[in-house]
Amino acid sequence: MATLPHTPDKGDFETAATTKSSTSTRTPKTAPRVRRDKVTSHDSFLNYGNGRWWKIAIVIAVVSFATYFLIDVEPRHNGGSWYGYTMGTIGFALILWLTLLGVRKRAMTPGRWSLKAWTSAHVYLGLSLIVIGTLHTGFQLGWNVHTLAWALMMLVILSGLFGIYVYATLPKALSANRYDEDGAITEKVMIEQMKQLDRQIHDAAQPLDPEAATIVERSLGENVFAGSFWQRARNSYPGDLTRIAMGELRKLRNFRPRTDDDPFERVETLLSKKEALLAKLRRHLQLKSWLQAWLYIHVPATFALIAALSAHVFSVFFYW
Ligand code: HEM
Repeated sequence: MATLPHTPDKGDFETAATTKSSTSTRTPKTAPRVRRDKVTSHDSFLNYGNGRWWKIAIVIAVVSFATYFLIDVEPRHNGGSWYGYTMGTIGFALILWLTLLGVRKRAMTPGRWSLKAWTSAHVYLGLSLIVIGTLHTGFQLGWNVHTLAWALMMLVILSGLFGIYVYATLPKALSANRYDEDGAITEKVMIEQMKQLDRQIHDAAQPLDPEAATIVERSLGENVFAGSFWQRARNSYPGDLTRIAMGELRKLRNFRPRTDDDPFERVETLLSKKEALLAKLRRHLQLKSWLQAWLYIHVPATFALIAALSAHVFSVFFYW
């Protein structure tokens, strides 16, 4: 079931990351763990108020279709008939109201018009626009500014649908990825574990010869948040310092005599652990970036839609 992220604009699902222990500036001796035996339950905004908004949206769609087929418009339905104007005005007003979610999102209040209620209405009334907007055109589409407005509306709606899919599926993948053998860990804990591993690798590298030690040192303190949005979204980091260090160290080790209690072996084991942790953290960042990616289409397309709609309305009245 889709639930709203706690701070969706940041794609942040880390409620535990804001607990007192995890925001403390003191360096803990052992990384704090957050047990997630119980998953916090959120009622889905998709079914808010016993499905009030999808029921309303269905009524809107049925009434729109019924009136479209029952009302006789000569010579045929089009955006310029009284029926077309009525549907167009409702559609325009609805689009402006849907856009206001951006403002509403930033002012949370509980109750009847909570963000959840608002989002539920947004989703289903947004979907009902497919019917309202399309019937407004009377299916007369062409290469003009009117159709551009309709196409942008469809793009916003389709990206919204993709957003719902993302909210419904990714949080599960996010929590599954955060489990290790001791239970669930937060992003903060992963970063803390990374720092600890770096310290252990630093200590383990002390007995190495200067050439090998330099290779290891170069891989320490890597900023996992460095890199572009696309690198995070694709989870592709060609210049990954840990992997480079492991490769170089392996090559170097081939020319060194094997000893009991080999420091190379200890460093390699720690580097492999770090590589596994990095993979987990980067997968986490990838999922979070996907949670945001659809909004990079939904929001700019909304503004393009409002611009195209204004041009559409202006041209209609200008050439009246
Ligand atoms: C033309 C119709 C629509 C317009 C103009 C519109 C516009 C917007 C705007 C401006 C936001 C606020 C984004 C932000 O500030 O972060 C938003 C959020 C959202 N929209 Fe739409 N939208 C439309 C249709 C839809 C549809 C049909 C769906 C789903 C099927 C949908 C799903 C969502 C969701 C889930 C959010 C909340 C995002 C979040 O809180 O992270 N939208 N929309």
